[in-house]
Amino acid sequence: MCTIKKIAVLTSGGDAPGMNSAIRAVVFSAAQFHIEVVGVLRGYDGLIDWETIPLGLEDVRNINNQGGTILFTSRSERFLQQEYRRQAADNLTKHGVDAVVAIGGDGTLRGAITFQEEGMNIVCIPGTIDRDVACTEYTLGFDTAVNTATDAIDKIRDSSVSHGRCSVVEVMGRKRGYIALWAGMATSADGIVLPEKWDGNFNRITDAIKKRHTDGRNSYLVVVAEGVIDAPELAAMIQADTGIESRVSVLGYIQRGGQPSAKDRMYGSLMGAYAVEVLRQGRKNRIVAIKNDILVDYAISEALDIENNTLDSFQYELSLRLSE
Ligand code: F6P
Repeated sequence: MCTIKKIAVLTSGGDAPGMNSAIRAVVFSAAQFHIEVVGVLRGYDGLIDWETIPLGLEDVRNINNQGGTILFTSRSERFLQQEYRRQAADNLTKHGVDAVVAIGGDGTLRGAITFQEEGMNIVCIPGTIDRDVACTEYTLGFDTAVNTATDAIDKIRDSSVSHGRCSVVEVMGRKRGYIALWAGMATSADGIVLPEKWDGNFNRITDAIKKRHTDGRNSYLVVVAEGVIDAPELAAMIQADTGIESRVSVLGYIQRGGQPSAKDRMYGSLMGAYAVEVLRQGRKNRIVAIKNDILVDYAISEALDIENNTLDSFQYELSLRLSE
């Protein structure tokens, strides 16, 4: 066991439901071992500017059900520069902080790798709705985001059915299609467009819609992951090719906010507590991950070397079969 006396906790990158549960669990677990916790505001920017608040049990007692992050967040451009990382490291040393717990996605992890070169000890918790961190089966926020997207798409479908239209719905996911795949399957979409599988073949989508139209269907739903194809352009093409009135809905930040699901609260709690345990056991520069539904940790550098997770092929094949 190593003696950690003071931890700084921060959230960085896109906010994700469940981050607050992780913060709460860090504070509660640290308190058990008389470890002081300081909350760093606005991610890595707050480390550079030393914008912090003390975090005690009373500060985090009722935050499990809150969306967003009580510590605020940023995508720090300055942290990409070594001189600012040095400034952040000097701040930590000056204030007697032994280790940092950083909760965030891919950019946060990349920041952590460079930060360890400044002699810092940083443990990361994967928090992003995109589920795009290769070393872990789960990232905080994914479940809530998929449920929010599913709920919104169900509502859009009601209107689509009433009007006999085709709805094209764009969801988030950065370069990954997990939100689109899960929300698309959950809402029985007629087409799901994923970055991992997109071959540029518009006809595949319009042909499927035309076939269903011939079979007597009068409304259609296509779920598109952001960044693959322009959703308004796709809707215009569907309308031009099939003659079916088509409308676009971009879900945007609605799917990143809101009350965390029970799963995100639970995994946030587990990961936060586990991060403190990793530090107490003297392991340095680690990322907390889920493997076979069990908590594990990897060296941050090793974790980023793991090949980026491809889409589960069975899930993808099934999505095709179930939309036929
Ligand atoms: O990484 C989470 C995410 O919501 C992505 O799905 C999306 O591409 C991106 O963040 C949007 O980022 P910003 O908040 O900077 O607009």
